[in-house]
Amino acid sequence: MAATGGSGGSKARGTFGKMGFILAAAGSAVGLGNLWKFPYMAHRNGGGAFVLVYLVAVLLLGLPIMMAEITVGRSTASNPVRAFRRLGGKWWSLVGWLGIGTGFIILSYYSVVAGWTIEYVGKCLAWSAQGFTKADAAKVGSDFMAFLARGDKQVLYHGIFMALTAGVIIFGVKKGIEAVTKVLMPALFLILLLLVAVAATTSSFLPALERLFLPGKIGARGILEAVGQAFFSLSLGMGAMLTYGSYMSRKESVPRSAAMVCGLDTLVALMASVIMFTIIMGVPPDQRGKFGASSVILFTTLPEMLYNLPLGRILAPSFYLLVGFAALTSTISLLEVLVSWFIDDLGWKRSFATVTVGLATFAMGVPSALSFGSNEFLTSRFAPLAPKASGFFDTFDYLAANFLLPIGGLLTAIFVGWYLSSAFTKKEVEEGHGPFRLHLLWKTLLRFVCPGAIAWILYSVVFQGVKFN
Ligand code: TRP
Repeated sequence: MAATGGSGGSKARGTFGKMGFILAAAGSAVGLGNLWKFPYMAHRNGGGAFVLVYLVAVLLLGLPIMMAEITVGRSTASNPVRAFRRLGGKWWSLVGWLGIGTGFIILSYYSVVAGWTIEYVGKCLAWSAQGFTKADAAKVGSDFMAFLARGDKQVLYHGIFMALTAGVIIFGVKKGIEAVTKVLMPALFLILLLLVAVAATTSSFLPALERLFLPGKIGARGILEAVGQAFFSLSLGMGAMLTYGSYMSRKESVPRSAAMVCGLDTLVALMASVIMFTIIMGVPPDQRGKFGASSVILFTTLPEMLYNLPLGRILAPSFYLLVGFAALTSTISLLEVLVSWFIDDLGWKRSFATVTVGLATFAMGVPSALSFGSNEFLTSRFAPLAPKASGFFDTFDYLAANFLLPIGGLLTAIFVGWYLSSAFTKKEVEEGHGPFRLHLLWKTLLRFVCPGAIAWILYSVVFQGVKFN
């Protein structure tokens, strides 16, 4: 094994400054997954029970695999493909390739949904200026559906979001990613805190906490969803954390950084849930059904709810701005994985790589953008791989969340758990940390618990037809 540990990153690749890794990695992890998917899934799956399973999944699967990805990245100072090739040879580099492919897919459709926040910041600013009337409230739902079916707007916002992402990436690791995240992450956190504080003043706050933290019933499907959600939310399974790890200084601690990122990501998901649950609990039970079903909650019922809160005129636009920022720091991490490969392995210049990859991903996202009603074929008849999904967007999301990320995570766990020697992983993980007493526990989780749990999920999805996205 040609261990390259110790050499660190070449100057040209760039390295994060102090705290840079934690900020950027937390920025990657915190996104639509936390602010929209988690509250909605928790609400659907019995609240407290789902939260409990999720926390266990983060601790037993998420944290060890995140440490594994960071370790592989930092010890090789390389993109996923090269990192696996250096440490494991030609065959293992396929894991890196899988990651690059998965990244293209996720980025292409994630950017479409992220683009919706642009429309909603604009809408909310107008509402705040003119007043949010009963008539406005009555047609938020139909307005949103009409917006979804506007192919031109869908493509335009997707394009704008990709351009914003590429704009940051072009400036490189230090000036771009780190600088942006340093401002955005704390701002995001403050707005969330403010929203939680506002929620705490309402009478539905306590019922919301009960629903969110007192375990209810959870089924097998809920457990699967919780585990899948942990992967997606922590940005694991496709080399994003590996790539950020490759920019991490060897003076910083891998276990502590990974724990911080997992903790922050979970905290944001819980805060978002407190806010959403408070809003949901404020609605009479017989009308709550509309919160249970689909991806549109965030854009149909939430504006109305936000405008019902004190300070709604300020909170509503800030909230969508926050969602957009969170999504941006996530798309940044996805694009950086792809761009770093073109830079390292093809020798492209950062600016050229960014523009090319950005354009390619934009093109790949166009069918997704058109699969919300504007194109009938893409909306309801393109479902070759995802049996129950109905359109192009659903197919991509189904593939990524149910198969590609879990497989990537499984292979990473096996690689670091079984293939890399304990002497090597111990030395690498102690670099910048000091003696790591939990090394054996970490290895054991990677060797048995992670592969076992993920294999069980894949088995359930393939053979029992459990769909969990
Ligand atoms: N974790 C982000 C979210 O919760 C999405 C994301 C960013 C992601 N990078 C990723 C998901 C890499 C999987 C893999 O919204």
